[in-house]
Amino acid sequence: MAGVVLKDLTKEFKEVIAVNKVNLEIKDKEFLVLVGPSGCGKTTALRMIAGLEEASSGEIRIGDRVVNDVSPKDRDIAMVFQNYALYPHMSVYDNMSFGLRLKREPTGKPWPLNSKRTFHKVEIDRRVNEAASLLGLETLLQRKPKQLSGGQRQRVALGRAIVREPKVFLMDEPLSNLDAKLRVQTRAELIKLHRRLGITTVYVTHDQVEAMTMGDRIAVMNHGLVQQCDTPLNLYNHPVNIFVAGFIGSPAMNFVPVTPKAEGDAVWLDAGAFKVELPKELADKARGYVGKESLFGIRPEDFYDKSLVGLVTPTSGNTISVEVEVIEPLGNDVEIYLTTGTQQLIAMIDSKTQAKVEEKLDIVLDLEKSHLFDKDTEAAIY
Ligand SMILES: Nc1ncnc2c1ncn2[C@@H]1O[C@H](COP(=O)(O)OP(=O)(O)OP(=O)(O)O)[C@@H](O)[C@H]1O
Ligand SMILES: [Mg+2]
Repeated sequence: MAGVVLKDLTKEFKEVIAVNKVNLEIKDKEFLVLVGPSGCGKTTALRMIAGLEEASSGEIRIGDRVVNDVSPKDRDIAMVFQNYALYPHMSVYDNMSFGLRLKREPTGKPWPLNSKRTFHKVEIDRRVNEAASLLGLETLLQRKPKQLSGGQRQRVALGRAIVREPKVFLMDEPLSNLDAKLRVQTRAELIKLHRRLGITTVYVTHDQVEAMTMGDRIAVMNHGLVQQCDTPLNLYNHPVNIFVAGFIGSPAMNFVPVTPKAEGDAVWLDAGAFKVELPKELADKARGYVGKESLFGIRPEDFYDKSLVGLVTPTSGNTISVEVEVIEPLGNDVEIYLTTGTQQLIAMIDSKTQAKVEEKLDIVLDLEKSHLFDKDTEAAIY
């Protein structure tokens, strides 16, 4: 078992810096998710850990070894790609065991006896059967890939990585070929598998829901930089900047440009029709921004219908009047598209609401859960 440490890891292609001084410490047995929009450098970072891409600068450690100059096959990693290719003419068993059967080590004797198989048939058999039983593939070992469902094929690709008993798993969007339902199922299987095997895993996805449900910790990347690395809950509750705040959470956080105004001890956030009074503790943090245009953030799930009993007591400072534009029922909640003045907002509200399209609605905001960002640096003020 081993952790992975990236120190100032950088990859420059001709005109792009794909990965820019990334520092991450992935702990032994941890499941770390790298998430971010397309092109932010996730695959490049993973390929450098795997040794498939040379780092322009910086250091990669696996366990207690610096591996920058170690070849991919000697790094004790196994990688699962988005477009895993199984050999169509081979059985599941042969697909899974192929890498092990091929692996040879030098004997020091002259050719043709200069190398021998690393793994004995008995050992290969043990590993394949063990992986097959972990993945529920026992009865499918003699089938060919075309006789399997998409999800089963995906599991064979995983099995192929598992039989190598690596110190680190590297997975690049391994579920993206599956349909939505199967993806959710396989996601849960992967988490269980990780719990049982306890192998350090770096998992790449651009899907923040996948990241939130799978990761012990999540590193959010944008433009080659790690914006924040923390537990799913900390990312959700305490995003360090506008990018992370907007990226984590679905539907995304609402942002409103506001100017904080002091009235005695109180601080109001004013955007014309949208006007709220900050709770005492947050007011103290926002005081330095009085008179300066800032960005207020609040998640759709922190809105309540005033006429229903909610978690928040309505006051003149936390209630706004809005116009309802669209209502989308989701079961327990409804998603409501609102406008106040020129500002558009999305709210998730208990489906008991009597809100009607094109009518007014009084909305209560849980301001304790709100966020405020510096417009220039994009960093969180609170
Ligand atoms: N071999 C290459 N030569 C030049 N530029 C490259 C090369 N590989 C990647 N890039 C660039 O580096 C940046 C990061 O690419 P990367 O594949 O790591 O992104 P990603 O986060 O994995 O995106 P996606 O979610 O689309 O897979 C992109 O701007 C990409 O165009
Ligand atoms: Mg990629």
